[in-house]
Amino acid sequence: MKRKTIVGIALGALLGVAGALGAEAALTFNNTVTGEVLDLSQGLPEGRDTPAVKQFLESGRNPYNENASCLSAGSEIFLSACSGCHGHVAEGKIGPGLNDDYWTYPKNTTDKGLFETIFGGAQGQMGPQYGSLSLNDMLLVMAWVRHLYTGPANGAEWLSEEQRRTFTPYSPARVETARAPANAGECRPVPN
Ligand code: HEC
Repeated sequence: MKRKTIVGIALGALLGVAGALGAEAALTFNNTVTGEVLDLSQGLPEGRDTPAVKQFLESGRNPYNENASCLSAGSEIFLSACSGCHGHVAEGKIGPGLNDDYWTYPKNTTDKGLFETIFGGAQGQMGPQYGSLSLNDMLLVMAWVRHLYTGPANGAEWLSEEQRRTFTPYSPARVETARAPANAGECRPVPN
């Protein structure tokens, strides 16, 4: 095969992939530090097209937030992938606290911003997570990080008006309810 043909085929394949993903990703996602556009196709193949991921890529809102049936899965991911640096309840350790209303990168008050930081990383030890967590796992862990929030309701941009009215800051007692998968049912996204 001639070199030109091979290049042509490779280019065609690349455009095909970009096109397929482009249809899903209505929004553009950017690296938190450099602003560079994130290439979501670098994400792990599994957990890429769950209903929740599709919904999130369209709306930029995490359908797992405050979804009781999804929180225990999120807490497990947090404990294995994040708490070593951010603390058991996201109170801060090597990495900053994620449970108050101070953010180094203010965009982390939105689901889209938080996802961008997790997917693409930030500075120093905050490496990109796309090689170890699926897109779906990122949404699950994001929901858990939000659940751990102890700050004021008006700093919680990720909550709906309704959720803000009934907001109660995280307390360990509430974890027990959130972690009771027996009566929580299957983890599914809620419409947003
Ligand atoms: C090896 C340690 C380490 C691990 C593991 C780690 N982080 Fe971080 N994280 C950091 C450090 C250090 C920073 C500060 C980076 C900066 O300021 O640019 C940070 C910053 C962040 C920020 C930005 C906070 C702000 O104030 O704007 C978020 C959000 C975050 N991490 C979430 C997570 C989540 C979720 C996980 C698990 C999937 C995780 N991190 C895993 C060390 C880590």
